[in-house]
Amino acid sequence: MIPVNSVLQVGHFPEIMQAEIDRRFTPVHHLDPKAPTPAGDFQAILIRSNTQLPQILVEQIPSIRMVATCGVGYDNLPLAFLREKNIKVSNTPGVLNDAVCELAIGMMLALLRQLPAAQEYVKSTAWSKAPFRLTTTLAGKCVGIAGMGRIGQDLAKRLEPFQVRIAYSGPNQKSLPYDYHPDLQELAKVCDLLFLACPATPDTNKMINAKVLEALGPSGYLINIARGSVVDESALLYALQHKKIAGAALDVFENEPNPNAAFLSLDNVLLTPHIGSATSETRIAMTNLAIDNLEAFFKNQTLPSEVNN
Ligand code: DGY
Repeated sequence: MIPVNSVLQVGHFPEIMQAEIDRRFTPVHHLDPKAPTPAGDFQAILIRSNTQLPQILVEQIPSIRMVATCGVGYDNLPLAFLREKNIKVSNTPGVLNDAVCELAIGMMLALLRQLPAAQEYVKSTAWSKAPFRLTTTLAGKCVGIAGMGRIGQDLAKRLEPFQVRIAYSGPNQKSLPYDYHPDLQELAKVCDLLFLACPATPDTNKMINAKVLEALGPSGYLINIARGSVVDESALLYALQHKKIAGAALDVFENEPNPNAAFLSLDNVLLTPHIGSATSETRIAMTNLAIDNLEAFFKNQTLPSEVNN
């Protein structure tokens, strides 16, 4: 049981997640993270990965000992400060892999076969005048994955039946049957499609830069299901506008929910509104894992998914 008035819920949760929270316990709501900090001896914070947790808010509630974020990414948290204060952090890994990988595969196919444009072609009756343009086959291509963590590995397994070669980069080589390229530029050079599946950290910040895009080349595609901050968006926009790469499918952006307007007029992009984990089943599972972590904290037990920050 989570004691009443012990958890501060920071920010809004979608209806289905809020219903699950309310079914399991009663947090105190602090819906606008920038509003004055509410008074109370809260011991834990519950937040979503799309809500930034202001450090000042935690500073103003010295009783806080834990932050449970609902999401696999935890770049929304003031990690250095939480570490310094020995405040525990949990996230929700694993339970969203299926949804994120399914979206990634869908984006890849829709990008290569230009499905949004193809549908528009039928709807606009342009088909009656001429056949739709030819697109690109996936089989036989080399697919790169930057970031071979849990999501990267699940994605690779789903890619295997498509008869592609799989290669990856990341800080460490893993015992996996795929080609390892420690250097991202080298990976970009050998692959036709490059998925981004790495966490947002200072090391990955803007790692997709002009050089990597140039290495990917005019027939290469970029698919970002990680975080907008991993990509230098000005370099990507330049590469897309000047056909330095063939196209990009982007689920995440530097500035969400108002991505750089220059993306909106491009015809070689597929844009989705950060929906990697956005299925009912997944959002309920994420909410439950976040609450399981809170319950474990209040029972003084090992957290099911603590971030070793
Ligand atoms: C995550 O869990 O970090 C996802 O991006 C949220 O949808």
